[in-house]
Amino acid sequence: MNDQVLGWVRAAKRIAVLTGAGMSAESGVPTFRDAQTGLWAQFDPAQLATEEAFRARPSMVWDWYAFRREMIAQVEPNAGHKALADFARRHPGRMTLITQNVDGLHQRAGSPGVLALHGNIFEDKWLDPPKACCNAAAAAAGSPPYCDRCGNMLRPDVVWFGEALPLRTLAAAEDAARACDLMLVVGTSGVVYPAAGLARTAAGKVVIINPHPTDLDDAADAVLRGTAAQLLPQLMED
Ligand code: OAD
Repeated sequence: MNDQVLGWVRAAKRIAVLTGAGMSAESGVPTFRDAQTGLWAQFDPAQLATEEAFRARPSMVWDWYAFRREMIAQVEPNAGHKALADFARRHPGRMTLITQNVDGLHQRAGSPGVLALHGNIFEDKWLDPPKACCNAAAAAAGSPPYCDRCGNMLRPDVVWFGEALPLRTLAAAEDAARACDLMLVVGTSGVVYPAAGLARTAAGKVVIINPHPTDLDDAADAVLRGTAAQLLPQLMED
C-alpha cells in the first residue's frame, strides 16, 4: 500500500468517497460499459437507459431492468463495500459516501447516509406525473405495471441518460466535495457528468482506485492501480 496515501486517509478530517460500477464488479455485477452476456448482449445499455427507449419499447426496457434486479438481488456486498461501511461505523461523521450505483450494495453493507446520485433500481415511480387514480400499490400487473384507469406506467426510479439528478442529493454531494480534505474515487470511468465533476471540484487531495486508466486521472494527486475489494480494506483499516 502507498504510504503517502495511507497518511492522507489517517490525517483527513472529512473524507468524500465517490464510487461507480467498478465498486460492485467483484460482487459479480457487470460494469455498465462491460459487454453484457446472454439475451441482452446485443443491446447497448446506453440505448436502453433513456426515457425515449422506455416510451418506444416499455416492455423491453422494463424486462431488462427486471433482469438486472434479479441479478443484483443474488449478489452480496464485497470486501470494499464492507471496508467503507466499517470505517464509517468506527469514525461517525467523518466520511460522506457518494455513489453512482443503483444496486444498493453500499446500503446493504451498512453504510449510513449514502448519497445515491442515480437512484435505486429496486424502487419504482410513475413515468408521467401521477393523477389521483395512480396508486402504485394497486398498479395492474404487467411489463411494466400500469394504472388501469389512465394507463400511466411504472418505471424504475433510476436516473436515465438525459435526466436531471435528484437535486438535494446532488447538492449534498457537491457540499461534501467542496468540504473534503480527501476524496477517494473508486471504480468509475469518470465519463458521466455531473458525477465525474465532483472529483474536479474536490477541495482536498484526490485519490483514484481503479485497475485501469480513467478520464479523471489528470485530476488525481495519486492513482492506485488495483481493485476496490483489494485496496479499500488496506486503505481504510485504521
Ligand atoms: P463504468 O462502467 O463506466 O466504469 C467502470 C469503471 O470501473 C472502469 O473505469 C473500470 O476500469 C473500473 N473497474 C472495473 N473493475 C473494477 C474493480 N474491481 N475495482 C475498481 N474499479 C474497477 O461505470 P461508471 O463510471 O459507474 O449512469 O459509469 C457511470 C454511470 O454511467 C453509471 O452510473 C450509469 C452509467 O451510464 C446512469 O445510468 C445515469
